[in-house]
Amino acid sequence: MRSFGIENIFSEDDYLYLKNYIYNNINTASDFIYTEYYGRWWNIVELDDRINTFIMEAVRKHLGDNLVIAFNQCIKYQKIGDCIPKLEPHTDHFYNDYTLDITIDTTLNWPLEIEGQYLSCSNNSGIFLDGNNENHSRPEYPGSDNDYMVMLYVNLVDQNSDILNKINAMKGLSENTRKMLLSRMIPRQHKKGAE
Ligand SMILES: [Fe+2]
Repeated sequence: MRSFGIENIFSEDDYLYLKNYIYNNINTASDFIYTEYYGRWWNIVELDDRINTFIMEAVRKHLGDNLVIAFNQCIKYQKIGDCIPKLEPHTDHFYNDYTLDITIDTTLNWPLEIEGQYLSCSNNSGIFLDGNNENHSRPEYPGSDNDYMVMLYVNLVDQNSDILNKINAMKGLSENTRKMLLSRMIPRQHKKGAE
């Protein structure tokens, strides 16, 4: 299996800085929207220089020098009404080489199952997931109304990858155009606050 997990992937200082940064995104971003199908809020989040630096240190330590960050998804799994968070067995169809799944803050023991092996998602852990090649899912959601799991998914691509040009072109689009495109990436969603 090419996927693997790391506990306490960042120093305590860096982890707390990242957690604060992610909660600031969750609390202030206008495009943080709930996707009913997955039972999760999400948006694309830009990180600052300090965070990019310590994430890339971890990436180089565990995967070598070839990968760079393409884009990041901020995710908050949460039960809302009849919408139960879920991740059914699948492989990804991203143009990335690895996704680093960082657990920011969770009340749950809700591991990621990859090719039959369970990798835990505890605070300040990271899973380097080869999601294009290795089937992954989560078991039935164990949470109640008060539970949640906040994640940062860092999508890593080869530094010479053609996808970087496409992503940078998308970042150059106007905010409204970008939001319109992203809002159609996943079916059935509603705006924060709307039920
Ligand atoms: Fe996936």
